[in-house]
Order: sequence, then C-alpha cells, then structure tokens
Amino acid sequence: MLLGLLIASCFTFCFSHQNQEFALTNPEKSTTKETERKETTAEEELDPEVLEVFHPSPEWQALRPGQAVPVGSHVRLNLQTGVREVKLQNEDKFQNTLKGTKKGKRLDINTNTYTSQDLKSALAKFKEGAEMESSKEDKARQAEVKRLFRPIEELKRDFAELNVVIETDMQIMVRLINKFNSSSSSLEEKIAALFDLEYYVHQMDNAQDLLSFGGLQVVINGLNSTEPLVKEYAAFVLGAAFSSNPKVQVEAIEGGALQKLLVILATEQPLTAKKKVLFALCSLLRHFPYAQQQFLKLGGLQVLRSLVQEKGTEVLAVRVVTLLYDLVTEKMFAEEEAKLTQETSPEKLQQYRQVHLLPSLREQGWCEITAHLLALPEHDAREKVLQTLGALLATCWDHYHQDPKLSRTLASLQAEYQVLAAQELQDGEDEGYFWELLGSINSLLQELR
Ligand SMILES: *[C@@H]1O[C@H](CO)[C@@H](O)[C@H](O)[C@H]1NC(C)=O
Ligand SMILES: *[C@@H]1O[C@H](CO)[C@@H](O)[C@H](O)[C@H]1NC(C)=O
Repeated sequence: MLLGLLIASCFTFCFSHQNQEFALTNPEKSTTKETERKETTAEEELDPEVLEVFHPSPEWQALRPGQAVPVGSHVRLNLQTGVREVKLQNEDKFQNTLKGTKKGKRLDINTNTYTSQDLKSALAKFKEGAEMESSKEDKARQAEVKRLFRPIEELKRDFAELNVVIETDMQIMVRLINKFNSSSSSLEEKIAALFDLEYYVHQMDNAQDLLSFGGLQVVINGLNSTEPLVKEYAAFVLGAAFSSNPKVQVEAIEGGALQKLLVILATEQPLTAKKKVLFALCSLLRHFPYAQQQFLKLGGLQVLRSLVQEKGTEVLAVRVVTLLYDLVTEKMFAEEEAKLTQETSPEKLQQYRQVHLLPSLREQGWCEITAHLLALPEHDAREKVLQTLGALLATCWDHYHQDPKLSRTLASLQAEYQVLAAQELQDGEDEGYFWELLGSINSLLQELR
C-alpha cells in the first residue's frame, strides 16, 4: 500500500519534472515562451469546436476534432476510421505500467499507456505551477507550490532510483522526428509522433531548433505522403511551427511547403485534412509579404476559390474569407505605419507593395464570392463576411452596388439584427454583439447607395 502510494507520487513527478528543469534554469525564457504559445493558439481557437469538453465513459467513444479531454482520459487513434477515441483511464493497466517504470524502464511518451493527451495535460498543469513560482509577491501561492512540488534534489534522487531518462525538448524532437522518418514505424506511430511534436513547436525556439537538424524538411515532406492522415498531422505541426516565426516561415518557403499545401487544397482530400492545411497556409502567409507574393504567383487565389465553391465546405469558406481579410488589412496597416513613422527603411513596405492582392481579388471573382457568402446562417460567419465586404468596398464597389441579391440580403439582415439588437438592449446590454453587426450592415447599405 505504502509502496503503491510512493510509486503513484513518483509517477506524477515524472511528468512534472521535465518542465521544472527548464523553469529553474531559465525562468525568464519560459515566461516569454508561455506568451508566445498563447498568441499562436489564437488561430486554432477560431474553431468553435475547441471549446467543447468531452466526457469520457469506460467504453471507447469517438472524439470530434478540437474537443477537449479531461485529465486522465485515455486517447487512441482508430486507424480504420481515422477518428480519435477516448475512454476513462483503466486503473489496472495504469498500475502495471507504474511497476514497469519502477524496474528501470525508460519513461517514454510513445508507450501505449501514457497517451499524448495525458502528457500534454500533465505538462500544462505543471506550467501553471511554474508560473506561480515565478511571481515572487504571492507568498501564499508559493507555499502551495512548495507543498505540491518537492525540492529538485529530492526529485533527482527519485529519478536516479527509478532510472528514468530526462530528455530536453531538443532530444524529444529528434526522437519524434526519427520515429516519424523511420520506415519501420507504423502509421499509428508516425501520427502519434507528429501529434506530440506539435506541442513542442509552439515554442518559437523549439520550432527554430527543428530547422537545425533538418526536422522541418522531414515534416514538410510528410505533406507528400499518400496517407491523408500523415498529410493532416504534418500540416498540424507546420501550422504551429510557422505561427509568428519568420525564420521558420522563410525556411518553409525554401523547402517548398507553399506548393505542397496548395496541392493538397486543390485535390480531393478529407475535410479534416483540408482544415489543418488551410490553417498551416494562414500561418505561413501572415506577416510574410514574400510568401504572399509567391502565393499569388502560384495561383493560390484560384485554389482557394475552388475550395470555397465546393459543396459542404462552409466552414472552410469562412476561414478563407478571414484569411483574405487579414491579408488585405495587413497590407493596409503596413502603409499606414510607414506614413505615421516616416519609415526610414521601407523594405517591408516595398515587399507589401509587390503583393497585388486587391486587383487579383477583383479579377478573379472574389467580389461576387464574398457577396454571396453573406447568405450563411451563422452570426459569426456573417460577421467575418461583413468585415471582409467592408475591407473590399473600395475595390468591389461597382460589383456590390449592382448586385441585387446582395442588397436583398443586406436588407433582410438589417431587419433581423434590428430585432436582435433591440432585444439585446432590453436585456441591459449596451452596444452588444448584434448592435455592432447592425452597425456594419447600416454603414454598408449607406456606402452602397
Ligand atoms: C530521414 O530519412 C532519410 C531516408 O531514410 C534520411 O536520408 C534522412 O537523413 C532522415 N532525416 C532525418 C532528419 O533524420
Ligand atoms: C512532392 O510532390 C510534389 C508534387 O505534389 C513533387 O513535385 C515533389 O517532387 C514531391 N517531393 C518529394 C520529396 O517527394
């Protein structure tokens, strides 16, 4: 019984320890890492599914993309269906593996019993603890942390006894890439390696380390796989690695990532794969005018147009429109910024000036496409489309002005949001969500008169 307790507590520390090492050796660095991580996840959180929490039972149940899983659940990938499945952790199996650990077996996140999800939750939990420790004012919290996490020397002793190997992030990434790159790995192992890798490359310096040993190119080549799941998870890793990380974005362009992403979007693929590939494309293009130029040259807008016009891809359509809105406004801001600061080195602006986005959008029929998308039923989809119509107004004015269907849609939305905004006001919410949507519609109608 006592032994069981001891082992159970060691098990918790096996997970916890990894990050504590970094937190202790370089607290400032890990604070910035944390902030970066938050920024980069914002993109994925566009997905409304991300907020859902899944409640596992003792039986395997399918997990929909983006659903959150409570700590301690067991997650596996069903290769027949490509669906991730979840159930409650099986207590007996848990104990058996702990005995294995005690005998000096290496703690390996790829064993079947510790799922990636377990590890991620454990690491995330520990990060909270590490953050608490760094805020010196809060003594009470520190005491709590001390109570929860034992001194490092004590932990080291335990680890020596357990003969557990502690890996750095770099070593873990090398191992995961080798696993993924090895022809002897099964499909399931490859997907699991990519899934775990995604966690690490959210941190900017980890993503840059991935470049240093050729790992990024291995993942980019994964986009060429004949397995849709490998394409999907390679894109998942790349989307995270590219986010606000210019060094990685540059290498990715040189490594041919842009062509490969566009090829996937242009061909028959599962919707889940296209979603992640679109996310990777967005991360690659954002704040990188050279990539945007290449994107236009490679016919990216035509690819996106076909994507938006396919049946059953409304989710993608909204994301595409959001991407275009982002690119249009990004360029506008660059112009504004240069004007305000009397820019002394206008290289960035010159790069943006070579991105002929608005004329291409107009030539390739995006005025009509964006106008039609306003007919989507969801409020947040309409919100995104309204934003985009506003940003394209100068470019598309004559199209919008002459489009009888658009004026009808706008008029009916005006009526709908007048009611909803009035309701909102009655409920005591001043200048709420519907009030703002109504405002955008009113000003569009005004401009188009
Ligand atoms: C991936 O595998 C190929 C062929 O097996 C090998 O040439 C290459 O060096 C490997 N790449 C990395 C980064 O391990
Ligand atoms: C990947 O596929 C593209 C075409 O989709 C091809 O041009 C390229 O040579 C392939 N690369 C590798 C590494 O297989």
